[in-house]
Amino acid sequence: MTAYANTNTFYISIWFWLILGVVSYSGWSKHVLTVQTGGSVTIPCHYDKKYTQQKKYWFSEIDKSKTYTNKTEENLSVIDHPDQSLFTVTMRNLQDKHTGHYYCVVETGEQPPINVIYEKQLKIQSAPDVSVVSSSVSGHEGGDISVQCLYSSGYQNEVKRWCRYKDQSCYTVGRTDTSQNSSVQISDDDDGGRSFTVLMSGLRLTDSGWYFCSAGEALNPVHLNVIGVSVSTDVGIEKDRLVLTNSHYCDLFFSNI
Ligand SMILES: *[C@@H]1O[C@H](CO)[C@@H](O)[C@H](O)[C@H]1NC(C)=O
Ligand SMILES: *[C@@H]1O[C@H](CO)[C@@H](O)[C@H](O)[C@H]1NC(C)=O
Ligand SMILES: *[C@@H]1O[C@H](CO)[C@@H](O)[C@H](O)[C@H]1NC(C)=O
Repeated sequence: MTAYANTNTFYISIWFWLILGVVSYSGWSKHVLTVQTGGSVTIPCHYDKKYTQQKKYWFSEIDKSKTYTNKTEENLSVIDHPDQSLFTVTMRNLQDKHTGHYYCVVETGEQPPINVIYEKQLKIQSAPDVSVVSSSVSGHEGGDISVQCLYSSGYQNEVKRWCRYKDQSCYTVGRTDTSQNSSVQISDDDDGGRSFTVLMSGLRLTDSGWYFCSAGEALNPVHLNVIGVSVSTDVGIEKDRLVLTNSHYCDLFFSNI
């Protein structure tokens, strides 16, 4: 048991070192996922494609429990999606006692044994600092999607962002520099500082995936599902489809990681 605890501490310290030394986005490790009491949340854990075959689990710092992938319990499901190089963790009936630190872990089997660990800090609140109107949004290829993100009054003056989990790219409310993509618009709503809205237009299949809204360090995840336009109903798309089939989209997706 002691040996286990020591190894665990070792992995965790390595991870903190990696965050400090390698990941350039400095605010990343401080993020807190806020969820309403009694509510549920689904969290993506992205991993490198080379670990597709490795065992993965969700680790709770609170009771030191490991839940391996493809296990579903009453209040917890951990499901691997090898085709997307991620596993998702769904926690239901969340209560105050679930506030704490969690880790996404891949048993890489490499020596020295550096596991791939993402820390996730969860905070269960009666009124979450950040929440989303809908945590799963669908749209059609070429169409639009809008996501409304709500934040509590204490967060009015914090920086508000819309970020993609996979590559950690973010759009920021009120920033007008040219690095921002015109196909993503993000603006504060006219409701006295309670929400902001993200509008993504000209959707591509590769825009599917996991994103989050954040205000300051508080965040909430959103899954975007872009549905391909049927070939038989749109001749214009048909031409593209001959060149870029679904599997090619996947290749592009992976080569970007
Ligand atoms: C699931 O959550 C509910 C509500 O908190 C609780 O009563 C129940 O015991 C939980 N189930 C398990 C298996 O922990
Ligand atoms: C887990 O389930 C997913 C799909 O539900 C499947 O693709 C994958 O192979 C499963 N993994 C294991 C280890 O059973
Ligand atoms: C803007 O976003 C679209 C869709 O995600 C992408 O195809 C395009 O390359 C992006 N443009 C820039 C300048 O990043």
